[in-house]
Amino acid sequence: MAALTEMVDYTVEDGVAVLTLNNPPVNALSHGVRLGLLKGVEKAQEDESASAIVIYCEGSTFIAGADITEFATGPKDPQLDEVLVALEDSGKPTVAAIHGTALGGGLETAMACHYRVAVASAKCGLPEVNLGLLPGGGGTQRLPRLVGVEKALEMVTSGQPISAAEAHQLGLVDDVFDGDLRAAAVTYAKIAAQGGEHPRVRDNDEKLLAAREMPQIFDMARGMIAKRARGFLAPEYNIRCIEAAVNLPFDEGLKEERKLFMELLMGPQAQAQQYFFFAQRQSSKIPGIGKDVAERPINKVGVIGAGLMGGGIAMNMANVGIPVTIVETKQEALDRGLGAIRKNYENTAKKGRLSAEQVETRCGLIQGTLAIEDLADCDLVIEAVFENMAVKKEIFANLDRVTKPGTILASNTSALDLNEIASATNRPEDVIGLHFFSPANVMKLLEVVRGDKTADDVIKTAMAFAKRIKKVAALSGVCPGFIGNRILYFRQHQAMTLGLEGAHYAQVDKVLYDFGFPMGPFAMWDLAGLELNWDKNNSKPDTSVTDRLCENGEIGQKSGRGFYEYDEKRKPVVRDSTTEIFSEVAANLGVSQRDINDEEILDRLLLPMINEGAKILDEGIAVRASDIDVVYVYGYGWPVYRGGPMHYANKLGLDKVLEKLRHYQKQSGDDFWAPSPYLVKLTEAGGQFQ
Ligand code: 3HC
Repeated sequence: MAALTEMVDYTVEDGVAVLTLNNPPVNALSHGVRLGLLKGVEKAQEDESASAIVIYCEGSTFIAGADITEFATGPKDPQLDEVLVALEDSGKPTVAAIHGTALGGGLETAMACHYRVAVASAKCGLPEVNLGLLPGGGGTQRLPRLVGVEKALEMVTSGQPISAAEAHQLGLVDDVFDGDLRAAAVTYAKIAAQGGEHPRVRDNDEKLLAAREMPQIFDMARGMIAKRARGFLAPEYNIRCIEAAVNLPFDEGLKEERKLFMELLMGPQAQAQQYFFFAQRQSSKIPGIGKDVAERPINKVGVIGAGLMGGGIAMNMANVGIPVTIVETKQEALDRGLGAIRKNYENTAKKGRLSAEQVETRCGLIQGTLAIEDLADCDLVIEAVFENMAVKKEIFANLDRVTKPGTILASNTSALDLNEIASATNRPEDVIGLHFFSPANVMKLLEVVRGDKTADDVIKTAMAFAKRIKKVAALSGVCPGFIGNRILYFRQHQAMTLGLEGAHYAQVDKVLYDFGFPMGPFAMWDLAGLELNWDKNNSKPDTSVTDRLCENGEIGQKSGRGFYEYDEKRKPVVRDSTTEIFSEVAANLGVSQRDINDEEILDRLLLPMINEGAKILDEGIAVRASDIDVVYVYGYGWPVYRGGPMHYANKLGLDKVLEKLRHYQKQSGDDFWAPSPYLVKLTEAGGQFQ
């Protein structure tokens, strides 16, 4: 065996040169890998004992892409394209042996080989779009030549990988094996070496021809992703590259790909999305809780409450094969809850995303009961009843009584004091917050709340458990509303103030929608239900717009009317009567109205969020700034191509943020705008949110 670099070894096995890559954890195409591959291909050309070349990866996966950490500084030579040309032009056949995930530059490397073989569990994809990029190693030119234009468009715009079986059927992979991949690839390469010419993907235009006759295919692709891709540059650029593959000679197409890749790479969206890639991986790492802390096993889960939230939470467990018991107080509520879960799964099956068998397996994993004692042997219990401290404390006292020692007792509270809830038990160290976002079976975020006494192993278990149920976790300390709702409160407060000062509520919503959020503050209120924060016994319809609407029974989407009126398809229509309520309430409060421009609206919605984020960091409620961004992107629809509020502030410049906060403080005379002392200190020191 010869080490070509610290990451690539060269051996000859049964007359075939095997280039073995070892760059944990994902065999990214770091400098040492590119250099080793290039040296290996060159060496094999001279090596009379080798008739073919296999690329094989140690560890859990084939190359999962370019090394993203190199993007910021620019990769050292050799560049990826030089390596790919060497593989493609090799006089001896080249075979990629794929296991795990061949992603991005990894799949591009495989496509530059003459042949690709895979194990059945492997996956292949070009996920660059999720990093605000496009495949910059010829992927947009080679993929449509292998799988056809339509499939290539789908793969590059969604970033979703496909299975080895599908890749085989489409022609992306030449053979699929079970068992010893290394040996199978060597045998495959040896046989290939006996043939004549070895196919170069670049030379075969056959699968492009249909699209040349049907140029509308590209606009159809644009139309299909329009809603999902709103505001993003990368999906459109990916489509343009595939268009180039169809309409230009291979080398010209490559040039277009390179040009558009560099444009994206240098732009703010790709920077934000790459920042976010690492942010979401960082958020589960908690300083002070190291490898030495053991996780508690979670094999059975209990959920209290079969409502919308409890049902959605239970589905997360069933989806990954964990048995779950739901407790309700009344049979009728339990039946309704279990029925809603089944219906939800059946609807997914109707869309073809689950088989009938999977529906049954998942429903079979969810049991219902009226006896809290049935949770005795659960490893984790998640309480998901309505937000009432007395009720929650009673439930936790009961859980303390019935569950075995070591059971993790979690509350799904979105705002209540977790320490007070924990005080109802004799084991506050086992109590934690697991705040799911509605719909709980869909939304990616899990806000994990650490109480004053929560044990380290409980936190570690919660962070790992989140990953197991396919959520992204961010840790928050205890404060009203935790990270997410605490910050949201300040944005919603400003939205209402803007409305009272004369901005039309639909204008406010549009500004936030155009920024990239799925909806604005008023549409969000309507969706959540205005009654949630309505104190009926203390209602003030003359001085509160929301109280007035609630008194009218206009509580949002569920009553067909709130700020907006909703048709059967839930399309919001502006109501003049709402505008009148704003004017009347403003007059009652002595607030004078004026026209407010979009720039001021955007500032006044976003700056309070950043300022509150700074306070949250200062108080140690969030471990790091990027955790706040994770909460906002995954829990509240902040557009990922803008990175999250704290990244956005860093890019805007903290001095600018501070200047604007001071401006609005002066304009309004309201201490609501007083900058966080931490932000002031950080700005003066020339720092950034970290
Ligand atoms: N570059 C650098 N680091 C990477 C990386 C990459 N491409 N992919 C993953 N990592 C790191 C992660 O940051 C993480 O580091 P940490 O342990 O310090 O937090 C570690 O590898 C493990 O990653 P995950 O926690 O994500 O591990 P999983 O097992 O859950 O998932 C994976 C593995 C599916 C490969 C996932 O890591 C992934 O999707 N990676 C990114 C794949 C990708 O986007 N590839 C395209 C890159 S861009 C490109 O190739 C451009 C080209 O066209 C020129």
